[in-house]
Amino acid sequence: MKNYLIDGKQESERLNFQNKMDICDLDQELAHYKWNQEHRVLDAGCGNGNLVEKLLQKEIKHIDGLDFSDNRIADAKKRFSHLKNVRFFQGSLEETNLEAASYDTIVCRYIYEHLTNPTTVLKELNRLLKPDGEINIINFDDMVFNFHTKNEAFNKELKKAKSRIPQDLEVGRKLPQYLKQNGYDRVEWQAVTYFFQGERLELEKTNSKMRFEQGRENLSRYFDSMKDYELFVDNYMNELNDDCNVLSSSKFLIKARKKT
Ligand SMILES: C[S@@+](CC[C@H](N)C(=O)[O-])C[C@H]1O[C@@H](n2cnc3c(N)ncnc32)[C@H](O)[C@@H]1O
Repeated sequence: MKNYLIDGKQESERLNFQNKMDICDLDQELAHYKWNQEHRVLDAGCGNGNLVEKLLQKEIKHIDGLDFSDNRIADAKKRFSHLKNVRFFQGSLEETNLEAASYDTIVCRYIYEHLTNPTTVLKELNRLLKPDGEINIINFDDMVFNFHTKNEAFNKELKKAKSRIPQDLEVGRKLPQYLKQNGYDRVEWQAVTYFFQGERLELEKTNSKMRFEQGRENLSRYFDSMKDYELFVDNYMNELNDDCNVLSSSKFLIKARKKT
């Protein structure tokens, strides 16, 4: 079964909306990487191709994208089908059909909180890297649920929902160790914490609404009924409207090399 929590048909619109938020500034996220235009680059979990667009601006000559959502691969192919140096593959990152040791650089953006087996994916990506190849990870830690409200009953609901979801929403902080334990070395990381206030909070309200809508089918499985899910979403959105409730999330930028 596909385990991506938010795989609705309109998810591309949400990804594009989210991409315009300051917390998801792709140029800033990619600023500290040294790109080599000759390198073969894989965008692992490419979604609809927003990162691929940036790689093209950097004139990278060989770009592959892989994602297991048919919807997102179709969106990405529509955008870039006219380009010969970009290829998209539909498949799971846990086990790809891609050739071993074929990439100099792998980039993964916002995928680990969607995986039930993040270390399996790290091992598979290690297999795909050339000796000494580099992995670059951009990932939030505890997005959405890192929220303290005045409403203790709702805080309990949040905790319960988090414990039922099989994906680890706090995976960001664990990734440096996971890399070290799964065939990588020279692990470097930095993190920045964002608090949602003012305009950022307003944008996140829209993002959350879209996220809960696109995830309705998959996320509701972790509630006792669709009615419970809808009630949770209503309560969540109400709590977000109180600007003395604090929502925050940390973003990790991590790079590491395949151990030789
Ligand atoms: C939040 S989206 C991020 C998309 C893109 N990286 C971006 O920055 O816009 C997460 C993506 O990971 C993909 N994904 C999740 N689990 C996956 C898996 N096991 N194998 C392949 N793709 C996966 C989803 O289909 C989705 O497109």
